[in-house]
Amino acid sequence: MRKRKLTRRVLDELRPYQPGKPIEEVRREYGLTDIVKLASNENPEGPSRKAVEAIRREAEEVRQYPDNDCYHLRRALGKMLEFAPEQILVGHGSDELIHNIGLAFVSPGDEVMMCSGPFSQWEFAAKLMEGKPVYVPMDDYRYDVEAMAAALSERTKLVFVGNPNNPTGTIVTKGELAALMSALPEDTILVMDEAYYEYVADAEYPDSLALVREGRTVIVLRTFSKIYALAGLRIGYGMTTPELTAALERVREPFNVSGVAQAAALASLDDGEQIARTRALNAESKEYLYGEFARLGLRYTRSEANFVWVDVGRDCREVFEALLRRGVIVRTGDIFGAPTHIRVTTGTKEQNERFAGALEEVLGGAE
Ligand SMILES: Cc1ncc(COP(=O)(O)O)c(C=O)c1O
Repeated sequence: MRKRKLTRRVLDELRPYQPGKPIEEVRREYGLTDIVKLASNENPEGPSRKAVEAIRREAEEVRQYPDNDCYHLRRALGKMLEFAPEQILVGHGSDELIHNIGLAFVSPGDEVMMCSGPFSQWEFAAKLMEGKPVYVPMDDYRYDVEAMAAALSERTKLVFVGNPNNPTGTIVTKGELAALMSALPEDTILVMDEAYYEYVADAEYPDSLALVREGRTVIVLRTFSKIYALAGLRIGYGMTTPELTAALERVREPFNVSGVAQAAALASLDDGEQIARTRALNAESKEYLYGEFARLGLRYTRSEANFVWVDVGRDCREVFEALLRRGVIVRTGDIFGAPTHIRVTTGTKEQNERFAGALEEVLGGAE
């Protein structure tokens, strides 16, 4: 009898996405009630009240399909960032935009450059399309722009840069981005994944939108999941040239962004106070965590995002499990190729203290 392989061969290389462990699962597995999740770079402050009101209002409208063009949101983003609506992409999370970038631009055998230990969706977009991920090692958890330039080839179609990078929290500076741009051929697309853009304080952080304005083949991705705290609604956005926007429109699912998400995102843009509050809390939280890590003798990487990458000096899975038993969920570094690191999202003051106390116990050997 004929027996053919049903799945595409490329699926052998793909693993389902591993999300941060959900609170509900830890509750069930460990019988704990008081759980702190610092594993998915969510905003502990929650969304703007204006967004929550917009969600309530929009709930009455879910009978009908949403606006396929995200008309109001694209205009509002365009006004805020000084782009024509034809240069604005809106996706079901920036994850969807990354996926669509793979669909639109990667042909089998094309090379897709990223750092080693990359954000999973960049790798997924490449592999799903039978592209070849090219991993460029980082230098002390920072992008090595010289090494990236040296690794470019005729087949490099896409270059992904996380700025700030997840999980390291480090940035590519103005000078480094300029050096990368001068090495990039015009027919290579640079994707600047700026999911944590609003958290950055470093004056050396580059203005990647200027490159889009100059007409370079650059796609800048941002999201409402992080500082705007709308992760559960799945909505991200991007800016690029009209040509690349038009290509991405062809692969986009119809009605990809719900009306509830569009309304909440639009309302969030009006709440500068929520952003300022979250930025301030995040800056304090990082200083607190740096202090605790230093006290525990741990090497950490200073972060421009809302998480910190720290070397706990022993098997990260063991530390992860021991923290879980104490009701604290973090992210292990092994999924990023760093077996003694963890990534911890900043929380509220109480959550940060709870994490630091639990970590001290775990590293002190108390079980
Ligand atoms: C670097 C990076 N890009 C993209 C995303 C996805 O964000 P979204 O929720 O908009 O899909 C994340 C989320 O963790 C991220 O860390």
